[in-house]
Amino acid sequence: MTSPDLSAPATEGETPLLSVRGLARHYPVRLPGGLFGRPGLLKAVDGIDFDLARGETLGLVGESGCGKSTTAKLALGLIPPSAGEIRFDGAPAPAPARQDAAWRARRRRMQMVYQDPLGALDRRLGILDQIAEPFAIHAPATPRGEARERAAALMDAVGLRPDMAARFPHELSGGQRQRVVIARALALEPDLLVCDEPVSALDVSIQAQVLNLLDDLRARTGFASLFISHDLKVVRQMADRVAVMYLGRIVEEGPPETLFRAPLHPYAQALVAAVPVPGRRRARTALRGDPPNPVDAPPGCPFHPRCPVAIARCATERPPLLRDAGRAVACHLAPASPAPASPTPASPPHAAVSAAA
Ligand SMILES: Nc1ncnc2c1ncn2[C@@H]1O[C@H](COP(=O)(O)OP(=O)(O)O)[C@@H](O)[C@H]1O
Ligand code: SF4
Ligand SMILES: [Mg+2]
Repeated sequence: MTSPDLSAPATEGETPLLSVRGLARHYPVRLPGGLFGRPGLLKAVDGIDFDLARGETLGLVGESGCGKSTTAKLALGLIPPSAGEIRFDGAPAPAPARQDAAWRARRRRMQMVYQDPLGALDRRLGILDQIAEPFAIHAPATPRGEARERAAALMDAVGLRPDMAARFPHELSGGQRQRVVIARALALEPDLLVCDEPVSALDVSIQAQVLNLLDDLRARTGFASLFISHDLKVVRQMADRVAVMYLGRIVEEGPPETLFRAPLHPYAQALVAAVPVPGRRRARTALRGDPPNPVDAPPGCPFHPRCPVAIARCATERPPLLRDAGRAVACHLAPASPAPASPTPASPPHAAVSAAA
């Protein structure tokens, strides 16, 4: 890595669709102590930078509680940031609290698919009407017949049969419900689709079908995607670029083929090593312990209490996220010049936490 001022993503060329700088979301909380507890600050997202190009899929991975869903809500403008800036198509995000015309116009261009399709759907409305609903809300001038025709075409595009049109969500399988949610999210041809654990609640046998559908729709319609999952295999399949989060921060970023083959950060190495691979013995070094409480993040490198290769400096000095050659890593022991973004043979720098052969 060359110098600390390379911590922000490179911004040459076309304006990114989504650009995030120093983004943070802190929640005031009460900690045990005193009569009413003492005040604390839960740092759900703690200063992250990333760009998302048009048509690109950025995968966000990390253990539960590391701030992935909070990042999604911030990006969608559903909650306001405590600090930092979000630009969508070059313009600063309007305040979520106002939910005025500017906010709604932007919201229309970004849609969301999340884990629980039943929770996202109206139980009392047939699925064709649900898929047609965005036209009534965001494009009320669309004639009702046309909206229903387009909804029928969307049903076809996501693999739902026409005879299902009048069914209610509870009359469908989990996979079919997620197809309804995807069809509705794509009704207004959004530029950005935020997918937060979109297949985590589905049977493994159905997961691949829904992932293939999303991939196919992305190829056909060209939406960009912020794709969140705790499952590295899923992110590897879907993402053009991957960011690994730990305790509200990005600790490593890079193209999936390089990051998953030769991760640089010891946390990313442990995550990758824990992925079961057919025919390979399980990882020699599993991730030790639970993630620390985000209210009381350790000083220095927040990963140091769990890091098998930590040095004295790690307990006091936080490593900055440094970028070079399409990769980024926040670790004092990261190589001065990491492997380039193109997939070339390389071995992880910290053999102690790499997967057993
Ligand atoms: N509304 C909230 N109030 C207080 N804490 C929250 C709130 N939303 C999320 N958190 C906390 O922020 C941290 C990150 O949460 P989240 O973004 O949901 O993580 P992930 O999606 O990676 O599992 C967690 O510790 C969670 O408990
Ligand atoms: S900075 Fe230190 S504690 Fe943090 S990941 Fe690197 S070696 Fe481990
Ligand atoms: Mg989540």
